[in-house]
Amino acid sequence: MNKAKFITFEGIDGAGKSTHLTWFAETLRKRGNEVLVTREPGGTPVGENLRDILLNQTMHAETEALLMFAARLEHIEQVIKPALQRGIWVVSDRFSDASFAYQGGGRGMNVAKLEQLECWVHENFQPDLTLLFDLPVEVARQRLSKNITLDRFEQEKDSFFEKVRQAYLERRKKHPDRFVLINAAQSPEQVKVNLEKVILSLS
Ligand code: TYD
Repeated sequence: MNKAKFITFEGIDGAGKSTHLTWFAETLRKRGNEVLVTREPGGTPVGENLRDILLNQTMHAETEALLMFAARLEHIEQVIKPALQRGIWVVSDRFSDASFAYQGGGRGMNVAKLEQLECWVHENFQPDLTLLFDLPVEVARQRLSKNITLDRFEQEKDSFFEKVRQAYLERRKKHPDRFVLINAAQSPEQVKVNLEKVILSLS
């Protein structure tokens, strides 16, 4: 049997990654893989409690980063690694690239500090593949405007999301081997065609 893979979905709020993630996981299952779908912040009881705090309470940018990585450690040790060891594929809605994009890019936090946290929490462990759903901020904003309620991040200004988007693209430059860029401004059908190609390329 092929080695189970750890795949992450990333992008600014409103990119549509959550919808595509469900379809992607289902397609993997149809080709015979056992798949666990999870998310960050969250994915464990501790992580989901931290998510509630992170999405609703105002805090210092570095507190935000520490809590994101605390939730992540729990997620990796309790959920992600045990699943991979059992041959189960893991598809996560966000992972550490989101911390570099949102806390690093959006909030302007020192990237060296984020790298220290990354090294502490998951040295030598990275996703096998990261799908970056990229689109102009105005398009994402239009999609978000259809939501009835917006969380603390979704309420941020366009300038914040512009910085998040650029930080994601920088992250891709730094890790070209694991990133695949998806043009999320396309129609859902066109995005699916791109995702099908990605799935075909997986061993
Ligand atoms: P999101 O995937 O957007 O949840 P939903 O689709 O249910 O709204 O994730 C929640 C928010 O958390 C998102 O705005 C980005 C933010 N976030 C960070 O700022 N840093 C991180 O490390 C992670 C994982 C998420």
